[in-house]
Amino acid sequence: MFPLRRNRRLRQNEAIRSLVREHVITPNDFLVPLFVVEGTGVKEEITSMPNYFRFSLDLLEDEVKTLWALGLKAVLLFVKVPDNLKDNNGTEALNPDGLMQRAIRTIKNVCPDMLVMTDVALDPYSSYGHDGIVDSGMIINDATNSVLAQMSLSHIQTGADFVAPSDMMDGRILEIRSLLENEGYHNAGIMSYSAKYASSFYGPFRDALDSAPVDMVDVPKDKKTYQMDVANRDEAIRETGQDIEEGADIVMVKPGIPYLDIVRDVKNNFNVPVAVYQVSGEYAMIKAASQNGWLDHDQVILESIMAFKRAGADIIASYFAKDVVKILG
Ligand code: PBG
Repeated sequence: MFPLRRNRRLRQNEAIRSLVREHVITPNDFLVPLFVVEGTGVKEEITSMPNYFRFSLDLLEDEVKTLWALGLKAVLLFVKVPDNLKDNNGTEALNPDGLMQRAIRTIKNVCPDMLVMTDVALDPYSSYGHDGIVDSGMIINDATNSVLAQMSLSHIQTGADFVAPSDMMDGRILEIRSLLENEGYHNAGIMSYSAKYASSFYGPFRDALDSAPVDMVDVPKDKKTYQMDVANRDEAIRETGQDIEEGADIVMVKPGIPYLDIVRDVKNNFNVPVAVYQVSGEYAMIKAASQNGWLDHDQVILESIMAFKRAGADIIASYFAKDVVKILG
């Protein structure tokens, strides 16, 4: 006799498929990365990220209103810092009137309910393009942590809801959390980039912010002494567990599609919301292939986002957030 179970019964038409569908994508899933630059009237396309832009503060206002109208209620801010303000210690990051601080105020002013998360790392501010302070060819962990904590405090004092440390220094979550608690910011959130790999998929992002490590003697050429080895899986659990113990509210895996195994491991091992970051290189690949007519733009985007949901992600940071909401109608 034919097996009693015919799996195709549950796939016969859209009505039954949607009834048994395990995951759905909604605007609530997304965190929208935004790139901010100095100037006025600036909306410049990032060459390696077609149809993704850097905004000056005035146009950022319009973008944020658009996002809110689409039901996208959380943003993740990155700033492109002018070269003359960069130094080894990321001094400009602590400027109360720096670009990040003004961006936070701008958004909270036009859209007070928008959840504002800020990137915390030295690279956009570093003359060497590193996430930490460089000394004799090394990235100095503990000295970097105190700058990261000060930077986090500055963002929270300015009105950010969450800080998102993306630097991968050891112990930075504890240092940030302690400072925020000591200063009375008990409700400040920390979304930690806990399992962040030394990936080559970040290339277009570094173009966007002009933040790649510089080619100089005594400056490490890559980020492999702090970001994770792409060969490692168990280590992601160690890193994530430590960040939760140190006070992270949300943990993140990054990049996304090439690291879905890690997303699922983290989801299965811990009981806090798990975010995933579909990074710039993933965006660039899908855009480039679809511009060539080699992939179906809309369907491939939705499939990639569904993969994150299946892997167990609760929050998805993606440059496709707006596209997705429009595609879903
Ligand atoms: C910097 C930072 C990077 C990204 C987010 N924060 C780049 C890096 O670590 O070199 C990458 C995001 C992307 O590629 O979309 N701390």
